[in-house]
Amino acid sequence: MRRILVTGGAGFIGSNFVRMVLAEHPDCLVVNFDKLTYAGNLENLTEFLNHPKHKFIKGDICDGALVEKIIDEHRIDAIINFAAESHVDRSITGPKVFIETNVTGTLTLLEAARDKKVARFVHISTDEVYGSLALEEDAKFTEQTPPSPNSPYSASKAAADHLVKAFGHTWDVKYNITRSSNNYGPYQFPEKLIPLMINNALNGKELPVYGDGLYVRDWLYVYDHCAAVWKVLTEAPPGEVYNIGGCNEKTNLEVIDVILGRLGKPKSLIKHVTDRPGHDRRYAIDADKIIQDLDWKPSVGFEEGINKTIDWYLQNEKWLSNVASGDYQKYYEQMYKNR
Ligand code: NAD
Ligand code: TYD
Repeated sequence: MRRILVTGGAGFIGSNFVRMVLAEHPDCLVVNFDKLTYAGNLENLTEFLNHPKHKFIKGDICDGALVEKIIDEHRIDAIINFAAESHVDRSITGPKVFIETNVTGTLTLLEAARDKKVARFVHISTDEVYGSLALEEDAKFTEQTPPSPNSPYSASKAAADHLVKAFGHTWDVKYNITRSSNNYGPYQFPEKLIPLMINNALNGKELPVYGDGLYVRDWLYVYDHCAAVWKVLTEAPPGEVYNIGGCNEKTNLEVIDVILGRLGKPKSLIKHVTDRPGHDRRYAIDADKIIQDLDWKPSVGFEEGINKTIDWYLQNEKWLSNVASGDYQKYYEQMYKNR
């Protein structure tokens, strides 16, 4: 039986990954380790909290002693590190916690993986470490594109990537790094573009579009990202880095148009606001390596994915209202106080 430690498994992508593994890989024990920051939400996993192959532990990836104890107690054979501060705008208003979690936290996990001889360390990184592309150019990011991060968020992720490689080089920690494009889908916290716009449109609120709205992202449905990470964990040779992309480049205004159309809301809700400082113009992923080497490809196109996502938010108003009210943060105490 596989025994994996998933960090950040109460967040958007981590919880989708935990859900996928429990549903599709019954021979795998998932220890889910999450600090439950504002972005961690146990309501993302309500129906799995008592699952026999899922154990949730609240804690900080900077706490090396606790991480080592968990590795020992559960005989962990792989760490998949999703835990991070993940929002660019927050990294601009308050960069320090990004260094603490994304850099020091990753370092702490690497030390534990090295000292406890964990067989594999899969680090979830981002295409944002590569910097920005111009709208006019055809180029995409490949795994050989040199890192050139522009925001405190992407700088902290690039620093973590370097540490992962350094631990592989220096101590032979068996690692992989994945660099995915922008994800969307169920359970995404409504501070990121797609869920924010859905939430605002549903509530008849203005949709704040930064600058001209012609910034381009390569949208990947979250399930496809999770499936790619599983392939990397189970099939990739150690030391390999993989880009994961949706082949789905869209401007922000194009994405918002689709959302408004599907919800039957007027374009007059769009409000152009002051641009994000240092805003990266375009991200685009060349995912040929993972497609060729691991036989992965995105299974959900943008039209299908965005419709599924909007439907999910429509059907899960309670989840959304608990996030808006802050009630989701009481869930841990309610669920665990009697355990
Ligand atoms: P998220 O913000 O939704 O979730 C992050 C999770 O990490 C939360 O559950 C939070 O409680 C937890 N966490 C934060 N600090 C912690 C700490 N110190 N110790 C333990 N847990 C902590 O993020 P996400 O969108 O799910 O992203 C997951 C990973 O994927 C991140 O590493 C991010 O950089 C990467 N990524 C995200 C995207 C995207 O579009 N969302 C794209 C590419 C890569
Ligand atoms: P975001 O979801 O924050 O992801 P990232 O910046 O990591 O790619 O933003 C996606 C795009 O949407 C980005 O170009 C910024 C833009 N954006 C807005 O125009 N308005 C908003 O309110 C937000 C949150 C993002």
